[in-house]
Parts: sequence; structure tokens; C-alpha cells
Amino acid sequence: MKKHSRILSLLSLSLSLLIFSLLSKTSKAYCNSHDKKVLFRIKEALGNPYVLASWTNDHDCCNWYCLECDPNTHRVNNLFITNSDITGPIPAAVGDLPYLEILEFHKNSNLTGGIPKEITKLTRLRMLWLSWNNLTGPVPSFISQLKNLEYVNLAFNQFTRPIPSELSSLPKLGYLGLDRNKLTGQIPESFGNFNATDFYLILSHNQLTGPIPRSLFNVKFAKIDFSRNHLVGDAYMLFRNNSPSDLSVDLSRNNFTYDFSKTDIPTRLVNLDVNHNKIYGSIPQQLANNELQFLNVSYNRLCGQIPTGGTGRLQEFDEYSYFHNKCLCGAPLPACK
Ligand SMILES: *[C@@H]1O[C@H](CO)[C@@H](O)[C@H](O)[C@H]1NC(C)=O
Ligand SMILES: *[C@@H]1O[C@H](CO)[C@@H](O)[C@H](O)[C@H]1NC(C)=O
Ligand SMILES: *[C@@H]1O[C@H](CO)[C@@H](O)[C@H](O)[C@H]1NC(C)=O
Ligand SMILES: *[C@@H]1O[C@H](CO)[C@@H](O)[C@H](O)[C@H]1NC(C)=O
Ligand SMILES: *[C@@H]1O[C@H](CO)[C@@H](O)[C@H](O)[C@H]1NC(C)=O
Repeated sequence: MKKHSRILSLLSLSLSLLIFSLLSKTSKAYCNSHDKKVLFRIKEALGNPYVLASWTNDHDCCNWYCLECDPNTHRVNNLFITNSDITGPIPAAVGDLPYLEILEFHKNSNLTGGIPKEITKLTRLRMLWLSWNNLTGPVPSFISQLKNLEYVNLAFNQFTRPIPSELSSLPKLGYLGLDRNKLTGQIPESFGNFNATDFYLILSHNQLTGPIPRSLFNVKFAKIDFSRNHLVGDAYMLFRNNSPSDLSVDLSRNNFTYDFSKTDIPTRLVNLDVNHNKIYGSIPQQLANNELQFLNVSYNRLCGQIPTGGTGRLQEFDEYSYFHNKCLCGAPLPACK
């Protein structure tokens, strides 16, 4: 009996020790005090918006909404303020969260002003995601100082002026989205230096002019979208045959003028949209061998028979993939004469 009670008391002691250590773990303030001060500055700079109502001293800052901490360092590594009513510019204080890897301001239509220079202090940043806001000014060249960036998305803003050529010096960049802005000038020659193996270059809905630089022949693209600009000339340099992954190309609604029959068709080209250009010649026979998922060559100056055979895909698209050309013929268009 005595022995049992001793075991019991030992058990209850170890149990209470366990509970104590569990409790102290959950109530321990993980939040880094420097980060917490910076977060309060950010909240104040944004005018204490409703979306940041959870940012109070009552909670560990790593449990606040719109952010995450690294589980090991307990430093804030992800700040994401989305779909909110925040107003004014991106607070310069974001540059004082030195462990940030992801900075996301997305769908805040009253977020205005330029990208603050202070973000250049965020040397660990991997993702800069600032889409669907109302940001203005140029796309700053200082973004190229953040050598760990893998993903840059500045789509759906009001950015103006030419694209800075320095962006190509980002050694890990795999996604560059500058679509739906008001960018002018040419695609930089330096963009031939992008190194990633599945590069996404999304520049659609801008006011870009001039030809595509030949240097782009060196880039291993997975997706290219240059649609709705004012680009001219040839596009052969986008179609390299050793593409390591499936390739999607959208060049629609530009002023491209080239002989389609002289374009190499990469075997892994799966989506091609070139509608509304001035492309002439005939559809290359090679295209019939591709596992195409989407094709639109309408509103160009193409001629000749739509190639048959191969995978048979070219006949599976309807006439709206081919209509409004000079003299294209054969299924799904009317037979050639
Ligand atoms: C943006 O600001 C305007 C004017 O103050 C306001 O009417 C509108 O509701 C705000 N939009 C959002 C999404 O908060
Ligand atoms: C930018 O602001 C205007 C009004 O100033 C608004 O109509 C538009 O939707 C906003 N853009 C975005 C992408 O939210
Ligand atoms: C691309 O990779 C090569 C070899 O890994 C490297 O020498 C070069 O600096 C890289 N280019 C860029 C723009 O980072
Ligand atoms: C194409 O060029 C014509 C003639 O220069 C011009 O009127 C038209 O606006 C251009 N279209 C595009 C999409 O740039
Ligand atoms: C191809 O583009 C034309 C012009 O924008 C459009 O009318 C047609 O519906 C498109 N076809 C397909 C299959 O998307």
C-alpha cells in the first residue's frame, strides 16, 4: 500500500511536471521583441486598419493574423496583407523585418505609392508579391539587389516607364510577372541571362514596343505571355527546341510580322496563342506532331493547308482557332481549292 502510494505520488509529480512544461511552452513569448516593435510601427503607418486588429499586446505576435514566424528562429518570415482596406503607401518599416522571406501585399486597391527603397534590406527575401494594388512609379532597379528572390509578381498595378534591365541579375529568379501595368520601352536585352530551368516571363497588357531581343533564345522558358503590347518583328527566339518542360506561349494582339513556316516548333510546345498579329506563311508541318492543348492563330495573314496527321490535334480545334487569315484552308476550315 505504502509502495503504491509512493509510485502514485511519483507519477502525479511527473505528470504535473509534464503539464507544467507543456503550459510554459504555449505561454512562452516566442515573438521577437524587435520584430514586434516593427510590426506595431507598420500597423501605425497603415492607420491601424481593421485587418490588423489581432496585432495587440494580448497575443504573442507570432500568432497574429497576416504573418508567420520561422518555427526555429521565431522571427517573422512571412508578411501577407491581402484583400484589405489598407490605404497609403507600403510602410518603409517592412524593411526592418530582416528575416522576411515572403512579402505579400495583394488585392489592396487603396495601397498606393512606389515600392519603398527600404526593402533592399530584406536580403533573405524569396518572394516579392505585390499584385492587384494601385502602386505607381517605375519598377525599381533596386529590386535586383535582393539576390535570393525566386518570385517577383507586380501584376495589376499602375507601374510606368521601361522595365529595368538589372532584374536579369537575379540569379534565382524563376517567375517575373509585370503584366497589367503601363510599362513602356523594349524588353531588355539582358533578359537573355535568366538562368532558371522553367522560367515564367509574364509581360502582357502593357505598352511595350520594339522587337523581342535575340538573346531570349538562351532562356529555358516554361511560360511566355507578351500579349497585348505593341511588339514587332520576329519571335523565332522564343521557340528553342530543347525546352526541358512544357512550353506555353501567348503573343496575341501585338504587331508581330514573321514567316510562321520558318519557325522551329519545340516538341514540348503545348499552348500557342498568336491571334491578332501580322504573321504570314503557312502553319509548319511540325506543329501537327505536338500534344497541343490550345491553339489560336486567328486574325493573321496565314495561307495554305492546315497540316494533318501527327497527333491529329490540329483538326480537333474549331474554326475559331484559325479564322480571319489570308488563305488558310483544310479542316476545320473549308477544303482547299
Ligand atoms: C478605398 O478608398 C475609398 C475612398 O476613401 C473608399 O471609398 C473605398 O471603400 C476604399 N476601398 C477599399 C477596398 O477599402
Ligand atoms: C485602383 O484605384 C481605382 C480608383 O482609384 C480603382 O477603380 C481600381 O479598381 C484600383 N485598381 C485595383 C487593381 O485595385
Ligand atoms: C547563371 O548560372 C551560371 C552558372 O551557374 C552563373 O555563372 C551565372 O552567374 C548565372 N547568371 C546569373 C544572371 O545569375
Ligand atoms: C500595329 O501597327 C499599326 C500600324 O503602325 C498601328 O496602327 C497599330 O496600333 C499597331 N497595333 C498594335 C497592337 O500595336
Ligand atoms: C481566338 O482568338 C479570336 C480573336 O480574339 C477569338 O475570337 C476566338 O474565339 C479565339 N479562339 C479560341 C479557340 O480561343
